[in-house]
Amino acid sequence: MSVQIIVGAQWGDEGKGKIVDHLSEKVDIVARYQGGANAGHTVILPPVRGQAPRQFVLHLIPSGIFHRHVLCVIGNGVVLDPVALMDEIGQLQEAGIRIDGRLLISHNAHLIMPYHKRLDAIREEGAQKIGTTGRGIGPSYIDKYSRTGIRVVDLLDRDVLCAKLKQNLETTNELLKKVYDRDELDVDRIIAEYEDFDKKIDPYITDTADYLNRALSKGKAVLAEGAQGALLDVDHGTYPFVTSSNPTSGGACTGLGIPPTAIDSVVGVVKAYSTRVGNGPFPTEQLNETGERLRKIGGEFGATTGRPRRCGWLDLVSLSYSCRINGIDRITVTKLDVLDSFDEIKVCTGYKVGNRVLARFPTDVQTLEKVQPVYRTFSGWNEPTSDIRRFSDLPSKAQSYLRAVERLLKVRLWLVSVGARRDQTLSVPRR
Ligand code: IMP
Repeated sequence: MSVQIIVGAQWGDEGKGKIVDHLSEKVDIVARYQGGANAGHTVILPPVRGQAPRQFVLHLIPSGIFHRHVLCVIGNGVVLDPVALMDEIGQLQEAGIRIDGRLLISHNAHLIMPYHKRLDAIREEGAQKIGTTGRGIGPSYIDKYSRTGIRVVDLLDRDVLCAKLKQNLETTNELLKKVYDRDELDVDRIIAEYEDFDKKIDPYITDTADYLNRALSKGKAVLAEGAQGALLDVDHGTYPFVTSSNPTSGGACTGLGIPPTAIDSVVGVVKAYSTRVGNGPFPTEQLNETGERLRKIGGEFGATTGRPRRCGWLDLVSLSYSCRINGIDRITVTKLDVLDSFDEIKVCTGYKVGNRVLARFPTDVQTLEKVQPVYRTFSGWNEPTSDIRRFSDLPSKAQSYLRAVERLLKVRLWLVSVGARRDQTLSVPRR
C-alpha cells in the first residue's frame, strides 16, 4: 500500500497545486479528499512547440490531471459544485486535456446547490464575517451533517433527486422569506438544472472508496491532495475563522475511505513566508511596507476570488503545531524566490502574552489575537534564485535560512520551489 498525503501546512495557498503536479509523475492516482470549489490550485505547464507556458487554476479536479497516466478521483469528503465542475471539465477539454476515463467522482460526495451559495453570501452579511470564498461550502457541509444533504448518488435517481430537492428548497425558501426577508428561489428551474447535470456527470460516478482500496491492494501509488490548509481545519484551525472541512491529514482517510494503515507519508507544503485570505488571527501579519512587498512580489491575490491575501513572516509556532497534528514527515518550501530581494528575513520562533512565553500554539481566537511574535532575524541573500536548479547552488544565506527552518521544525526539508513552473523545483539532500 502506498499513500502519500499532501497537506497545506499554513492557511492555504502554499502552492499545493504545483507540488502535486510535480509529484504526480511518479504516482498512479491523485485523489482530492475535502473542500470544494473554494480551492484554487494553480499549475503551469511547460511550453509546447514554442508556445507560451499555459496556466490552469483547478478548483475541483485533482492537480494530477496533466499527467496522462494519472487517474484522478474526487472523494466522498469533497462538496461538489456541478456548475464549477462542468466549467472546469470544459476548460480542460478545450485545452486538449483528456478527462473521459481519467476522472472518477465518489457517489457519496455531497452536492453544492444554488441555495448553499445564497446562504453563504447572506451569512457573510452578518456581524461575524468569516470572509468565505462565497462558494457555498459551509452551508453544504451543514446539510451533510444535519443529514439533509443531497449526494452525487441522488443524481442517478430522478425521483429521489426531485423529492429531496423539493423538500430542501421548501425549507430554504421559508428561511429566505421569514428569517432573511429575501426573494425565494425558483424550485422548478433548479430541479431542471440538476436533472441535466445527472446526464453529464453520470459517466464519472462510482464507488471511489472501493476503487481506491482495490488499487492499493494491487500496489498502486496514490497521492491524496488536500485543499486549503491545516490552520483552516474546522477541528484544529483558528475556529471560527476556518473552512468547514478537515484539510489535515486525518481528513484524507475519511474523505477517501482509505484506512490510516495505508498512509506512508505526509508531506507538508509550506510557503517561505505566511499568507492568509479572509478574516481571523494572523500573528505574524505585516500591515506595513514588508507586507505590501510580499504581496506584490509573490502575486498574493486569491486564485479563486482574486482577493488580496494578507501577508507576513514565516511562523514556526503554528507550523510546529501543524507538523504535529498532521504527522508531517517531510516539508516542501515554496516561493523561496519571493524573498530574494529582502535585506532581512524574519521568522517567528515563539509567542509571548505579556511576559509569558506560550508553550504551544493556542487555537482559541481570544488568545491568538493577543500574542506577540518573537522573531529571529536572518540576513537576506539579495540574489535571484529562480534559475537555480540544485540546492547546493542556492546562495549560502538561502541555504542557511532553509536549514534553520528544517532544524527548528525538526522535520526533513525535502523539496524547495523557486518559481511556479515545474522545472523550478529543487530536491534537497538529507543532512
Ligand atoms: P470557505 O471555505 O469558503 O467557507 O471560507 C472559509 C475561510 O477559508 C475563509 O477565510 C476563506 O478565505 C478560507 N479559504 C477557503 N478556501 C481557501 C483556499 O483555497 N485558500 C485559502 N483560503 C481559503
